[in-house]
Amino acid sequence: MYRLSGLLATLAAIATVQAHTVITYPGWRGNNLHANGTSPTQTGSIGIDYDPSTGDASFPYGMQWMYPCGGVPITQNRTKWPVHGGGLAVQPGWFQGHSLALFYVNIGINEPGMNAPPNMSHPVVPPFQVVGPRNTEYPGSSFCIPQIGMPANLSLQIGTNITLQVIELAQHGAALYSCVDLTLADPSEVEPITPQNCINSTDLSFNLMYTMSEKAATGAAMSLRAAPVAVVLGLVVAALLL
Ligand SMILES: *[C@@H]1O[C@H](CO)[C@@H](O)[C@H](O)[C@H]1NC(C)=O
Ligand SMILES: *[C@@H]1O[C@H](CO)[C@@H](O)[C@H](O)[C@H]1NC(C)=O
Ligand SMILES: *[C@@H]1O[C@H](CO)[C@@H](O)[C@H](O)[C@H]1NC(C)=O
Ligand SMILES: *[C@@H]1O[C@H](CO)[C@@H](O)[C@H](O)[C@H]1NC(C)=O
Ligand SMILES: *[C@@H]1O[C@H](CO)[C@@H](O)[C@H](O)[C@H]1NC(C)=O
Ligand SMILES: *[C@@H]1O[C@H](CO)[C@@H](O)[C@H](O)[C@H]1NC(C)=O
Repeated sequence: MYRLSGLLATLAAIATVQAHTVITYPGWRGNNLHANGTSPTQTGSIGIDYDPSTGDASFPYGMQWMYPCGGVPITQNRTKWPVHGGGLAVQPGWFQGHSLALFYVNIGINEPGMNAPPNMSHPVVPPFQVVGPRNTEYPGSSFCIPQIGMPANLSLQIGTNITLQVIELAQHGAALYSCVDLTLADPSEVEPITPQNCINSTDLSFNLMYTMSEKAATGAAMSLRAAPVAVVLGLVVAALLL
């Protein structure tokens, strides 16, 4: 974590960052704030390009778009996280276009002997919207959920390896992925949440997201061919309650 702060300070100094989400607590699989490789206009890229002669992958559109963990393979340097769930701090504004963003947080569970979780299909918070200060970058701003719970129907033990996946949906609907690999531990063994590592910046706010029946919203059946403004009626944003 402390090394990460230095890295973030360095990255913050780079003006042309191609990027979106940084997990600042409990850790990060690795820096995936990259776009590299040959422009898609030259190569007709499918997103991840692979050079068999060197073994290099390149990401002409940017790494974070790649499911499930933004192009970074699973790591062995896991961070300890409380067995009943713990904190999560994220910087959501590392690229332009995120004056509004939706967030999903999931876990994937490594059963003993598995090399990676078979899926990332266990949501641990309801999806929510972050309202940023502007539509250009705001990399230093963060939000923090001090206590994420575990799904009620899972009873995970100390020593279990899990991966926490943070997904940010851009305003056009595409998804950005970042992960941290964790080992569940007794809370006394975990780096505690403090006012230094768990911050809600004053320039961010939150909206809860839910849907309602289109009939309840409009009193009439709605055609998906209707104008876009009618389509968004189904997505209603209310006051925050994480
Ligand atoms: C694990 O190691 C990688 C590579 O050195 C580093 O980028 C990453 O931040 C480390 N993760 C943690 C949680 O320390
Ligand atoms: C692109 O960046 C990723 C992440 O840093 C790296 O693993 C990969 O080797 C890079 N590819 C090229 C072609 O530079
Ligand atoms: C959890 O991951 C660590 C590091 O990758 C590994 O040494 C350990 O054996 C794993 N634990 C289990 C229960 O698979
Ligand atoms: C997802 O992974 C869990 C283990 O973490 C497993 O129990 C479950 O069956 C998997 N679900 C699907 C749909 O593959
Ligand atoms: C940040 O705001 C969210 C939403 O109001 C809240 O759940 C969370 O506890 C806050 N975090 C801190 C560190 O106060
Ligand atoms: C846990 O409960 C959720 C919500 O009820 C359900 O969607 C999910 O399939 C359940 N998972 C397992 C592994 O039973």
